[in-house]
Amino acid sequence: MTDTAAALQRPHAEQLFAAELAALAAADDRPRPPQWRLSPWAVVTYLMGGTLPGGEVVTPKYVGSRRLIETAVATVATDRALLLLGVPGTAKSWVSEHLAAAISGDSTLLVQGTAGTAEEAVRYGWNYARLLAEGPSPAALVPSPVMVAMEKGAIARIEELTRMPSDVQDALITVLSEKSLPVPELTSEVQARRGFNVVATANDRDRGVNDLSSALRRRFNTVVLPVPATTEDEVHIVTSRVAELGRALDLPPADGADHEIRRVVTIFRELRRGVTEDGRTSLKTPSGTLSVAEAISVVTSGLALAAHFGDGVLRAGDVAAGIRGSVVRDPVGDATVWSEYLETVVRERRDWSDFYRAARELGD
Ligand SMILES: Nc1ncnc2c1ncn2[C@@H]1O[C@H](COP(=O)(O)OP(=O)(O)OP(=O)(O)O)[C@@H](O)[C@H]1O
Ligand SMILES: [Mg+2]
Repeated sequence: MTDTAAALQRPHAEQLFAAELAALAAADDRPRPPQWRLSPWAVVTYLMGGTLPGGEVVTPKYVGSRRLIETAVATVATDRALLLLGVPGTAKSWVSEHLAAAISGDSTLLVQGTAGTAEEAVRYGWNYARLLAEGPSPAALVPSPVMVAMEKGAIARIEELTRMPSDVQDALITVLSEKSLPVPELTSEVQARRGFNVVATANDRDRGVNDLSSALRRRFNTVVLPVPATTEDEVHIVTSRVAELGRALDLPPADGADHEIRRVVTIFRELRRGVTEDGRTSLKTPSGTLSVAEAISVVTSGLALAAHFGDGVLRAGDVAAGIRGSVVRDPVGDATVWSEYLETVVRERRDWSDFYRAARELGD
């Protein structure tokens, strides 16, 4: 990381992992698709981690199936666009950022999809002062990130594709099928250079908000990112992300974190799946998603509490309120679910009495 990147609250992936990307580029002797900074093999290594022949270590970014990432990278190397689909917190945005950083060296050509996203965000807009003064001219045109990506032959990222109104989504159809963006005001067009592609993300839970039209869906290959398969995987993801975030926030590493992380993950998984780990007790599930991302934030907040107001040891009391906050989203239904979980599961676990007490002190 450079000194400038170190001063930023959240450096982009290509800044944070500049050294890894450079080492990969140097070690990579496989063929690279046009405009790609790395070969598909090296892009997968960047995402999944590995050791290079020169001994440099590439940290894993995505924890999960290599095959999924290979499929995603292979898709981007074709002329089909990539849609990363999954429930909240399954690393869709994370994977999309790292793919763009590894392939194009730039993860910032980004359109955030919301109900208010306008067509200009996908096509182009105008600098109105210049437009009025000079009339339509290339200098008055304000290109969208998609247009810039087409000109550069780079990856454009579209976040939350299905939150955008359908007519804005449809503006992508010409881009994806013709690989060109007409500018009728200038009687011209922008034709995509080779290397251009789109990586979009969409949330399973938002299905039905603005469904993808079938015309657009046909232009995407969909890769579904699953919730972590095992407790071990999930503990591993939370541990490594918490360590990275803690470093960025200058939090001292806390003792006891492993123990509390495992407990947070266990509680989240049990409530998410509606059954205890031993399969013996079925549970009511709360309305929230209890995603990995929320587990990461519960532990990070707990670390801040332990560091600033405790003795530096992460304890049940530092995570209890965070866990309760993630579980109880709807004060009526979820509060009952939580209370039942505390009584039927937490209370019965002998080595969890510290957590039972801490949770009860919150007033449940
Ligand atoms: N399998 C995984 N491997 C590595 N990190 C993961 C994994 N799953 C979740 N994470 C972590 O969870 C956090 C949230 O991920 P991200 O924001 O990409 O989720 P998302 O799928 O885009 O969610 P949303 O639908 O809410 O936008 C990231 O910090 C990411 O590192
Ligand atoms: Mg996201």
